[in-house]
Amino acid sequence: MTRPETLQAVASPPQGWMPASWRQRHALQQPTYPDAAALEGVLNELHALPPLVTSREVLNLKHQLADAQEGKRFLLQGGDCAEIFGDCTPEVISNRLKVLLQMSLVLVHGLRLPVVRVGRFAGQYAKPRSADTETKDGITLPSYRGDLVNGPEFNAEARIPDPRRMIKGHARSAMTMNFIRALIDDGFADLHHPEYWNLAWVGHSPLAEEYQTMVAGIGDAVRFMETLSGESIHNLRSVDFYTSHEALLLPYEEGVTRQVPRQAGWFNLGTHFPWIGMRTAAVDGAHTEYFRGICNPVAIKIGPSVTPDQLLRLIDVLNPNDDPGRLSLIHRMSATSIADKLPPLLEAVKRDGRRVLWICDPMHGNTESTSNGYKTRRFENIRSELEQAFEIHAAIGTRLGGAHLELTGEDVTECTGGARELTDIDLERAYRTTVDPRLNYEQALEIAMLIVRKQAQINAPTPI
Ligand code: PEP
Ligand code: CO
Repeated sequence: MTRPETLQAVASPPQGWMPASWRQRHALQQPTYPDAAALEGVLNELHALPPLVTSREVLNLKHQLADAQEGKRFLLQGGDCAEIFGDCTPEVISNRLKVLLQMSLVLVHGLRLPVVRVGRFAGQYAKPRSADTETKDGITLPSYRGDLVNGPEFNAEARIPDPRRMIKGHARSAMTMNFIRALIDDGFADLHHPEYWNLAWVGHSPLAEEYQTMVAGIGDAVRFMETLSGESIHNLRSVDFYTSHEALLLPYEEGVTRQVPRQAGWFNLGTHFPWIGMRTAAVDGAHTEYFRGICNPVAIKIGPSVTPDQLLRLIDVLNPNDDPGRLSLIHRMSATSIADKLPPLLEAVKRDGRRVLWICDPMHGNTESTSNGYKTRRFENIRSELEQAFEIHAAIGTRLGGAHLELTGEDVTECTGGARELTDIDLERAYRTTVDPRLNYEQALEIAMLIVRKQAQINAPTPI
């Protein structure tokens, strides 16, 4: 049977590329492992382990991202800034899934478009840091680089990069994937029962009423269609869910890079949709080299210092054949600089006729510290960057096709503002992140509602 043309991977890797060719380039944000033999041993072990995802799923996602590029789908990508090994528990995983399902329901209903659902999970274990070392009370130690690399505790032993953590991270990613697949197969995402997704602690959320009214309306519509057709609508029982993470720790990513039977090319089978972080997105850097040869759909984070020229060169390297679905650009500028920095990039890509999916990350440009010492993000700035992104794309004639968010299903207080108007003082109540502040359930749902309202406003014909 021939496969549809869009599901073909590129036939052969680009010139000079190998899963290990990144080693010839300058690799930023990598730990220094003290024992090279132990590292090689772990990489051999990783190579032999079963993959976490399949090439077929990876290509299906690419197909959906190609649809999103054409405005036929909207992408929702969300999850923790950093997963931690201790959070690989049924509650944390299912709560995160619930929030993403609820948000996607709001988006499908409001945008009248299918949603591509991508979690920042099952592998989001490595973090870039602003400095290689951290000093406290006169003691200097290597920085914590995520559970995939070392431990967060401030002592010399915990901070030594340990390659065995890659095997642990791989196993926890597999457990997370396995649990999510099992939940979905078991009807957790069944649209006949959206009440399964309600989070116990939510209680009297100011947004609950709007959400429940929408859910009741969907329930009525489903029952009406089933009565009309005289049978149950089975494809409402399940959804596609994909995984993504920042492919930062290159030895690990090389270790999960595979060839598969009956499919040309190399795949990263540790996740469906890897991305390059802002700090490691140099065109001649090791990360770009690794990414150029894999067949997965890939994304790059674009910060305010990227010039139109640099962006076009990155696109040349990562998607030379203008392959549909292959490349997404996640802009993360900040509420104050998006109006200046984004338009020249959109114009350059549009002028050159490059096929990309534009995604807005309204989180990472808006991180600040409060006077009581917490790293936070103000809901108003997140909202402002997202709303401006919709307006700027509409003015230039490009399309904002997705949102990239840091969120959790736990009852945390890490970002201020939102419907419950959390203040700097509230941060003390439940501040749990090890890296960046995340939206809690209500704030995340509010963002989904805001996307729907903003898109409707943009679609509405201008009053005369
Ligand atoms: C992140 O997504 O957690 C991150 C570090 O983002 P960025 O690369 O955009 O700074
Ligand atoms: Co982050």
